[in-house]
Amino acid sequence: MLRDKRILLIVAGGIAAFKSLQLVRLLRGRGARVRAVLTKSGAEFVTPLSLQALTEDKVYGDLFSLTDESEMGHIQLSRDADLLVVVPATANLLAKMRAGIADDLASTVLLATDKPVMVAPAMNVRMWLHPATVENVAVLRERGVMVTGPTEGDMACGEFGPGRMVEPEEIVAAIERALGEGETAAGPLSGRSALVTSGPTFEAIDPVRYIANRSSGKQGHAIATALARLGATTTLVTGPTRLADPADVRTVHIESAREMLEACTNALPLDIAVCAAAVSDWRVAREAGQKLKKDGNAGPPALELTENPDILATLSAASGTRPGLVVGFAAETETVVEHATAKRLRKGCDWIVANDVSPETGTFGGDENTVHLVTETGAEPWPKMGKDAVAARLAERIAVHFSSNFAA
Ligand code: CTP
Repeated sequence: MLRDKRILLIVAGGIAAFKSLQLVRLLRGRGARVRAVLTKSGAEFVTPLSLQALTEDKVYGDLFSLTDESEMGHIQLSRDADLLVVVPATANLLAKMRAGIADDLASTVLLATDKPVMVAPAMNVRMWLHPATVENVAVLRERGVMVTGPTEGDMACGEFGPGRMVEPEEIVAAIERALGEGETAAGPLSGRSALVTSGPTFEAIDPVRYIANRSSGKQGHAIATALARLGATTTLVTGPTRLADPADVRTVHIESAREMLEACTNALPLDIAVCAAAVSDWRVAREAGQKLKKDGNAGPPALELTENPDILATLSAASGTRPGLVVGFAAETETVVEHATAKRLRKGCDWIVANDVSPETGTFGGDENTVHLVTETGAEPWPKMGKDAVAARLAERIAVHFSSNFAA
């Protein structure tokens, strides 16, 4: 939680400025006190009134007058905070920060402060990769400015590449880390237990061969990290991946679907279960005890397949020990929402995170995901974002679900 932490939000001019409103909501939901400075160009994207309504405080802009100055001088404004956060940090504002230019309230406050500063850059990919910006950011980092993002993705300008601002949930996580309120503090899911499945399963054919799939485990591991960061006591049951075990998460390594099921049922009772693993639907009916040999006369062996247990469906149907919230994933290559909606009912889970895994999306093994959150009220499209951002947003939604459905 960020109880009583004072955040001075500097909202500069960029299309990502609209995300500052969600950021204020999340910060205030965690008990932080947020005060906003809105630059002149920032005001082209969000209105002072909406920021004022959400912060429940005066919004400071370039019309900072002598009356304002007598009530709250700009020096005091810059220091009356635990952290200054610039969202979005434009190429222009980063350049001014590097050069020490103070020609408006935002840049003056940033020059006058003695408090830690975090920036969440957002700009066109070419601006981000321009040597001037690269150098400005490097210098700011050296001076101790914390830089969160940007991520890679489709941008409002129609180009693709690094330059997109990280999602508000990720900025909140970065703020918590910066203020030492991260994993160790009592997060909104503290006292809750969570299970996440991740990665592929390996189904042995014989002692050396197996059936597997292309899942990298990135999404599942990121969800385990995000839930732990919000305070949940988290168990990750994972098939073989190249990823490191997440910090502060109890990680159980398994290979087959049946081992995954056993590890998951051993973890019951639970408040939350998120099944992100790409479980192999089938295994060979009879695993050979010895390596299968080529037999010239008989030709290649015929592999008879049998169905694996469905872990998501089993957890959803666990009588007496069903987790309070069961979330599944749907990997689809066509009519994503329709399939996911049907899958939610078929599997008996509460939510489905539906993603398009057709090869052209690069989801499998990639760092980004375009998902829909399918709940009993319908399908909510989420913008294309990094798997870490999907995880942070999902964890945040889970926290909201528990805070509105149960007394902690
Ligand atoms: N899942 C599971 N156990 C299985 C198969 C799938 O727990 N044996 C879970 C996955 O972790 C995911 C969800 O079920 O949360 C849906 O997985 P998906 O592969 O999309 O669906 P399938 O059940 O394989 O259905 P289909 O092949 O018809 O798409």
